[in-house]
Amino acid sequence: MKIAITGAAGLVGSNLQKTLAGEHEIHALRHADLDITNQTAIQEFCTRERPDVIINCAVLNVDECETDRSKAHAINVAGPQVLAEAAHSIGASIVHFSTNYVFDGKDEKVYTIKDLAEPVNNYGQTKLDGEIAVMLANPKHFIIRTSWVFGVGKENFLSIIHTNLRAGKRGKVVSDCWASATYVEDLVARTREIIERNRYGIYQVVNEGIASYVEFTYEAGRLVGLSEPQVSALVELISDAEIKRPATRPRYTPMRCLLSEDLGFVLLRHWKDALAVFIASENKDANLL
Ligand SMILES: NC(=O)c1ccc[n+]([C@@H]2O[C@H](COP(=O)([O-])OP(=O)(O)OC[C@H]3O[C@@H](n4cnc5c(N)ncnc54)[C@H](OP(=O)(O)O)[C@@H]3O)[C@@H](O)[C@H]2O)c1
Repeated sequence: MKIAITGAAGLVGSNLQKTLAGEHEIHALRHADLDITNQTAIQEFCTRERPDVIINCAVLNVDECETDRSKAHAINVAGPQVLAEAAHSIGASIVHFSTNYVFDGKDEKVYTIKDLAEPVNNYGQTKLDGEIAVMLANPKHFIIRTSWVFGVGKENFLSIIHTNLRAGKRGKVVSDCWASATYVEDLVARTREIIERNRYGIYQVVNEGIASYVEFTYEAGRLVGLSEPQVSALVELISDAEIKRPATRPRYTPMRCLLSEDLGFVLLRHWKDALAVFIASENKDANLL
């Protein structure tokens, strides 16, 4: 298949590009190559290249969505809608990533697509609005909600905490948020299966198990050879409210995927097993240098 990836330089986009390149013809479009808020550029690209699938990985991050609402709407809602319409106009399908932050996380439960989506911040609201816009614009849609993604490709908290701990760096860890965590390699492998199986709908793709930032930190410390007291000496626990970021985060948003269960997909491994593989792969790369 001919597959176009927008936002291709980001965490999910860069890993998708690597994984899909072996079997498919990939057009990896970084922000500078295609701005998804530029309707004319999108239409021209689609008419010229006629991809079979467009995978949208472009996004505005959580805190910026709170501080720049019109940019949030342009990138997380209007852009995806135009991509979905353009895909529809050439008979292509669209894959659009979304998030556990569509849920409010007020109940301590594992969320499925049957649960009401009621976001607590503007990022979650724009991601939900983006999902709806994509679904209305193109019946050939795969909405893939994911959560707390870690791996090579972005220096977010989950991806670098083990490196910081190993280096003896002190840091703050949010103590009152729980969610599913997702290794980007597992996410992109499952995304490939979803595209190839070709059943449209809303997926929730995450590793097994429920994580907190605190548990993730201690597990990362253990995997790099630190004892619990050694990790405790490096971390200061802080609540989401105390950290004073522009956007509050939902408190408890683990997810499971009804559609994957229906299709008979195997559950993705536990996040602790995935984290072990990620850290070991980084050690292997370091040994090769
Ligand atoms: N990472 C997570 O933990 C997580 C969790 C849940 C859901 N998701 C979802 O997964 C998807 C991918 O996220 P990610 O973590 O890979 O994001 P990311 O690493 O922040 O990458 C996003 C990419 O989008 C690009 N971009 C921003 N505005 C654009 C525009 N107008 N046109 C084209 N490209 C633009 C950015 O380029 P510049 O930097 O150059 O602007 C960046 O390369 C998103 O839909 C996100 O909501 C991610």
